[in-house]
Amino acid sequence: MDYRIKSFEEYQETYQRSVEQPEEFWAGIAENFTWRKKWDQVLDWNFEEPKVKWFVNGKLNITENCLDRHLATRGNKLALIWEPNDPKERFIRFTYRELHEKVCQMANILKRNGVKKGDRVCIYMPMIPELAFSVLACARIGAVHSVIFAGFSHTAMADRINDAEAKVVLTSDGLNRGPKQIPVKRVVDEALETCPTVEKVVVVDRVGWAVNMVEGRDVWYHEELQHVDKNCPAEEMDSEDLLFILYTSGSTGKPKGVVHTCGGYMVNTDYTFRNVFQYEESDIYWCTADIGWVTGHSYLLYGPLLSGATTLLFEGVPSFPDAGRFWQVIDKFGVNIFYTAPTAIRSLMASGLDHVLSYSLDSLKVLGSVGEPINEEAWHWYHIHVGKERCPVVDTWWQTETGGIMLSSLANVTPTKPGHAAFPLPGVQPILIDQAGEEITENEQEGYLCMKFPWPGMIRTTYGDHERCRQSYFSAYKNLYFTGDGAKRDANGLWRIIGRVDDVINVSGHRFGTAEIENAINQNKHIVESAVVGYPHDVKGQGIYAFVVCGDEAPQSPEHLRAEVIETVVDQIGKIAKPDKIQIVSGLPKTRSGKIMRRILRKVAEGETSNLGDTSTLLDPPIVDEIIKGAL
Ligand code: WT7
Repeated sequence: MDYRIKSFEEYQETYQRSVEQPEEFWAGIAENFTWRKKWDQVLDWNFEEPKVKWFVNGKLNITENCLDRHLATRGNKLALIWEPNDPKERFIRFTYRELHEKVCQMANILKRNGVKKGDRVCIYMPMIPELAFSVLACARIGAVHSVIFAGFSHTAMADRINDAEAKVVLTSDGLNRGPKQIPVKRVVDEALETCPTVEKVVVVDRVGWAVNMVEGRDVWYHEELQHVDKNCPAEEMDSEDLLFILYTSGSTGKPKGVVHTCGGYMVNTDYTFRNVFQYEESDIYWCTADIGWVTGHSYLLYGPLLSGATTLLFEGVPSFPDAGRFWQVIDKFGVNIFYTAPTAIRSLMASGLDHVLSYSLDSLKVLGSVGEPINEEAWHWYHIHVGKERCPVVDTWWQTETGGIMLSSLANVTPTKPGHAAFPLPGVQPILIDQAGEEITENEQEGYLCMKFPWPGMIRTTYGDHERCRQSYFSAYKNLYFTGDGAKRDANGLWRIIGRVDDVINVSGHRFGTAEIENAINQNKHIVESAVVGYPHDVKGQGIYAFVVCGDEAPQSPEHLRAEVIETVVDQIGKIAKPDKIQIVSGLPKTRSGKIMRRILRKVAEGETSNLGDTSTLLDPPIVDEIIKGAL
């Protein structure tokens, strides 16, 4: 059944119905999937514990819905197109039948290596087809995947593997990224020095390196393939069995393992994919996100495959071999729907119009944006030069925790407005809350964005620590899910996301807790104390500004110290968390009770020091003058 909304009136009617009768609404969508057994109850919930169960006692396997059920009608349709990093290397295409076979083989390799239902499997791989096979193979046999973006360091990987107590790691020898090659397996080897739960490592040969293979632990994917069958029955899963864990940063130090479950996530990603992008059967769809982030999970793999779409997987970067790479790929495959991040648009804007104007981009119908607020300049550039003023730009707001898109225009169906995520999707019930915890009902008022009713794709728990989930999302306001974002409705009720209101910063669409980066910096032996804040950055959205205090016997020059601090962060988290600016200070501005006054540091980082606000509680006012003088 086609459950796309086709007009603004229909959107309003559907939205109204979804709020009045959410259970009937979602059950109606869920009917469209293959269930081994239907649910007994649509929803069982309270936001106090919190407890959220959708399609209670329903039995299914998400890969049966992504693959098997399409075989009869779409067996020969393309499921996946893989475009390599280097345009001179040949692309590879997989039909639904071929993808089904690849996933089954990988699933059998996992089984052969001891993986059972419920086991956690860590996937640390570049954007190659085997990454897609791996994710789906886990889901096929009921193993819980935990994909770790292949830019994270060995320390970050080890923390995540240990938190999830993963049994098996899937990786590759190396990876290609623009002109560079990166030794992935070596990072895994380092991580595994401190990961006692890992028994096996499956290695895909991507770059042809003779990597170190640990006897009894490491096996090659291509060798394992010789021993496995092309069929693998899908494991029967409960709706609320774990599908995956994905780590994300919060305002406290340690990243949290966000847990998503099988039934609700499936229904949610499929419904939002079809509606937001108004996907049509013959469309070629391209989401540029890495599968290591939630966007890659929900809108590169699961959403499109559930819908029977052709999804493109790109190994490379927007700037290699030149800044026309995205546009070249769009023309090459006739991409119709293109979904990317504002940071990518801003970096391509900066490299001039020539690149984008050299391609026709005639195939494009819908453009999407995700990950951070899109500034008006980038929005217009995208709309005019990429979409030729013909394609709607859907600005999609959501989070790792929400599992799927929550606020967005529906392409060609509901209005768009630069910088606005427009309207809640059916089934989504946002509410704005003021400082006092009261609902803001008038428009044009800023407040905290919360949700007052569950949706099927929402976070169920934080892995291994349910209390942390309650504390992080359900304790700020009674009976509400708190997003951590500030938002505002315009005079017509269109939503605009302002940005994080907690100590989380968004750097090129990647989330970091300031405390997480501080903890990393503090690992450096010369650093006594540090404070990290975000500041506006032309391309990245936010840049990372670190104030560091070093110990007495720090021997080096400031340049050396900065380089060392960067090295420490790269080692602890990865290159993506590298501070853009490091200011060495003799102390941090603190209150008499010892709390760092981040508000002041933020102003310094933003270069807005004319009005620092109330500084009467400062313990040591001269420190502030020193910091202002030394600002970078
Ligand atoms: C945070 C979630 C799920 C998408 C990838 C990022 C910010 C996300 C938008 C948008 C303004 C956005 C929010 C949110 N964000 N999309 N369209 N407009 N801000 O997922 O890493 O979980 O980060 O990204 O601040 O809370 P994530």
